[in-house]
Amino acid sequence: LDEEEIASIKRTWNEVKSKEIEILYHIFKDHPDIMSKFPQFSGKELEELKRTSQFGIHVTRIVSFFSHYILLLGRESSKPCLRTITNDMAEVHKTRGVTKDDFNKFKDSIFKYLKDHVEMDKKVIHAWNDCFDSMYYVIFSNY
Ligand code: HEM
Repeated sequence: LDEEEIASIKRTWNEVKSKEIEILYHIFKDHPDIMSKFPQFSGKELEELKRTSQFGIHVTRIVSFFSHYILLLGRESSKPCLRTITNDMAEVHKTRGVTKDDFNKFKDSIFKYLKDHVEMDKKVIHAWNDCFDSMYYVIFSNY
């Protein structure tokens, strides 16, 4: 990722990160099977779940991970930290039965949300793809 790509990721992320509830809501709506992997959410009515603090807490965790990840992009000295937080995240998910396929569906939903809510030209889409590819490369190396 070059400087311009990183800047475009930061800019677009800043536009959507406060919509965290909506983002997870859309992911669960697109993929009920992802929602069912959460023991505390499985079987609940999404429209109601969306308004609970439990949902809010989980959303904050996911969005904080992305914000932290994006903040560290582009700094050579941050590379070990990026790798560590991503490996830790992968481990948590692997032990909870989250599959590569789940991660890929999750990515598709985030992309859909971004494309529907911020202006994304080809270059920005390319930058986001590269960002996910490098994150998923590390995650999948744990599988
Ligand atoms: C927990 C982020 C994708 C299922 C978490 C946590 C974070 C997180 C930060 C809290 C970790 C902890 O407790 O130490 C992310 C990110 C994702 C992602 C950044 C994508 C890049 C997924 C997917 C699934 C999933 C695709 C399911 C199919 C879960 C479950 C938990 C969890 C079941 C444990 C929830 C709990 O018991 O509190 N995730 N996640 N995650 N995630 Fe994800």
